[in-house]
Amino acid sequence: MSTSSPAKILDGNAIAAEIKSEVAAEVSHLTAQGLRPGLAVVLVGSVAASQIYVRSKVRACEQLGIFSEMLTPPESVSTDELIAIVEQLNARDEIDGILVQLPLPSHVDTKRVLDAISPAKDVDGLHPVNAGRLITGRPALAPCTPAGVIEILKRSHLPMAGQNAVIVGRSDLAGKPAAVLLLQQNATVTICHSKTRDLAHHTRHADILVAAIGVPGFITPEMVRPGAVLIDIGINRISDRAEFEKYFDGDKAREENFTAKGYTIVGDIHPAAFALSSAYTPVPGGVGALTIAMLMVNTVHAARMRRGQSLQPFTGAGR
Ligand code: GUN
Repeated sequence: MSTSSPAKILDGNAIAAEIKSEVAAEVSHLTAQGLRPGLAVVLVGSVAASQIYVRSKVRACEQLGIFSEMLTPPESVSTDELIAIVEQLNARDEIDGILVQLPLPSHVDTKRVLDAISPAKDVDGLHPVNAGRLITGRPALAPCTPAGVIEILKRSHLPMAGQNAVIVGRSDLAGKPAAVLLLQQNATVTICHSKTRDLAHHTRHADILVAAIGVPGFITPEMVRPGAVLIDIGINRISDRAEFEKYFDGDKAREENFTAKGYTIVGDIHPAAFALSSAYTPVPGGVGALTIAMLMVNTVHAARMRRGQSLQPFTGAGR
């Protein structure tokens, strides 16, 4: 089965670059007023993927002129010690945004740590106050990845109002806030999860299908309505060749890259499903690229809000 015209690739890198250049202009404007935005990133322990993400976040700050600071407590840090670190950052005027990279070690009470972040500095949008503000339509710091999904759809001129948006996954970081943001855009939203009966029945009704499950290739072609817009939030690393072939058999460019690096990244949507869509976010180079760009947006929003400057209700594009 195929759609009448080829699927459009939604280029996350290009959209992220556009957003970053807008943020850079805003940062230089704020800096000229003596209000340079600042971000603190807390990275606990030495999880390789987290180290890579955090380094990219700090690098983006440097590129855009945002002050950044990285704190690296050891894996053995206690919940109370981490809360003390957060409270010190809450009190520092030059820090506008605080991000505690997740996941935290299992002995740490993640919710207590996130709740300690001042809602005004919560650039991840994970504090209950921001979640509540978001769901009730007040100006809020929204979680970066789902905020990035909305930016991709808006900037690609893909309609959301009245569309059936089906989200697979209900995490606080991705699925739940994606549902709220799509609802704000007047989509008809369905949230599916591991206990959903006849999942494919729901996904096949999606005009916009958002996959945020964290399972490689989980959404297969039979689960997709031809012509749907596919948004893949998954970032799964694959280093096993047999598994690679399950997803990318015959993809020469991907295979060369896999052989050279020893791994590749696959999303939650099986790549074979993309050809059925009208438009899709590739992995890598789709939603992932937006997460950091939206963190930069949120840091500037936090800086403005703390200085009493006006802020429109989220979201950015078309404000
Ligand atoms: N780990 C994976 N994605 C994220 C994110 O967006 N924010 C934080 N804090 N941790 C993450």
